[in-house]
Amino acid sequence: KIPATVEIGGKKYQTDEWHNVPSTINTAVGRQLHLQKDHPISITRQIIESVFPAPTYKYHNNLFPVVTTHQNFDSLEFAQDHPGRSRTDTYYVNKDTVLRTHTSAHQADTFRRNESEGFLVSADVYRRDAIDRSHYPIFHQMEGARMWDRTKVPGGDIAKAVWEDIAKLPTHDMKVEDPNPPHHAERNPLQAPHSAAESEAISAHLKRSLELMVAEIFSRARASSGNADAVSTAEPLRIRWVEAFFPFTSPSWELEVFWQGDWLEVLGSGVINQKIFTNSGVPDQLGWAFGIGLERIAMLLFEIPDIRLFWSRDERFLGQFKGVTDDLTLMKRFVPFSKHPACYKDVAFWLRSTSSAAGGGTKMNSQDFHENDMMEILRDIAGDTVEDVKAIDEFTHPKTGRKSLCYRINYRSLERTLTNDEANKYHDRVRKELVERFGVELR
Ligand code: PHE
Repeated sequence: KIPATVEIGGKKYQTDEWHNVPSTINTAVGRQLHLQKDHPISITRQIIESVFPAPTYKYHNNLFPVVTTHQNFDSLEFAQDHPGRSRTDTYYVNKDTVLRTHTSAHQADTFRRNESEGFLVSADVYRRDAIDRSHYPIFHQMEGARMWDRTKVPGGDIAKAVWEDIAKLPTHDMKVEDPNPPHHAERNPLQAPHSAAESEAISAHLKRSLELMVAEIFSRARASSGNADAVSTAEPLRIRWVEAFFPFTSPSWELEVFWQGDWLEVLGSGVINQKIFTNSGVPDQLGWAFGIGLERIAMLLFEIPDIRLFWSRDERFLGQFKGVTDDLTLMKRFVPFSKHPACYKDVAFWLRSTSSAAGGGTKMNSQDFHENDMMEILRDIAGDTVEDVKAIDEFTHPKTGRKSLCYRINYRSLERTLTNDEANKYHDRVRKELVERFGVELR
């Protein structure tokens, strides 16, 4: 069933039993929403770029989405058994080649090229995931990094040089909650090659730079917000730093913003793992990096309620952002076009059970079925007409040990009213496909 070779983004690849890239994903490679003029993802990218000026930061907006597992995982010090490597979460072209799952896949190569003190990488990234209004298997991230070179700062005093650079940054008037120690031996350790003073200075530069970015984004979000009164533009924006973990940074931080009543995680960041610099042939560099999801930010900047809209070619969507690239003051909240009716359909099934040769008993083969596999069937068959999928029941038979699952699928087009007949046709095909691919027994 797997073709021997596939073409992705104009390049040919040999496949093997690891291959799991569906054609629906393959055909979306190359849309490059982050480069489409007046597309909200592209506008969001430009707003963030404005906070990280050239030539200190060099922009890379055209890096190819197919990377090696070395680039995506090994070069970033991911453990061999890290769950991110699993075929249920990641699209594999073949055993050694994936669609990048994050823009961090380009860190090591960009350090190696050593062209600038800092960089921003904006790109499409790919992850197998659930279906709902804020998840889509392709989305966009921006990676940012800032480096200092021990051999280039006077006396090799990195901490002093970094604090001097911090003094040159603008200030902001947000309320920042940061109760965390600069590092913590167990939770968020200082790296052995760094002095406490160096690590603290780099963390401080990272935090101030990213706070400025958030200040810029949210001042625009509030200016365009339809319920500016509810958000109260008079009140200072509240943000907080939270300790985090990434294999490629330490200490690591997440930044959260208090937005319309909830703490919202907006980015991951940290002091770059020194091994990445060493392995990239630039052992004298040190610095920080961050990664931010652009859809998330665009959704709240423009009040876009459904992530599928970004992929729409409908003028009722795209037309609303015309001219914003050239004049950011034209930015306004998205006005949803009429909402079409939802059509809910349930599917319930028993997972295949196989007799285990050794015990003679019955063992449920749940490894055969992963929720993300069903999401893919839905996307293959019904494309963007699936709005969300929820697991509504799970049951294990007390005697046989067999497991039964039930999912509720919401079929709803963004662009037109779906007839019950059409939804039924999709749903019947989904049921058939579940049986064919996973041998489930429909209930
Ligand atoms: N790549 C991380 C993610 O996708 C984000 C990140 C980037 C964290 C850079 C730290 C430094 O979740």
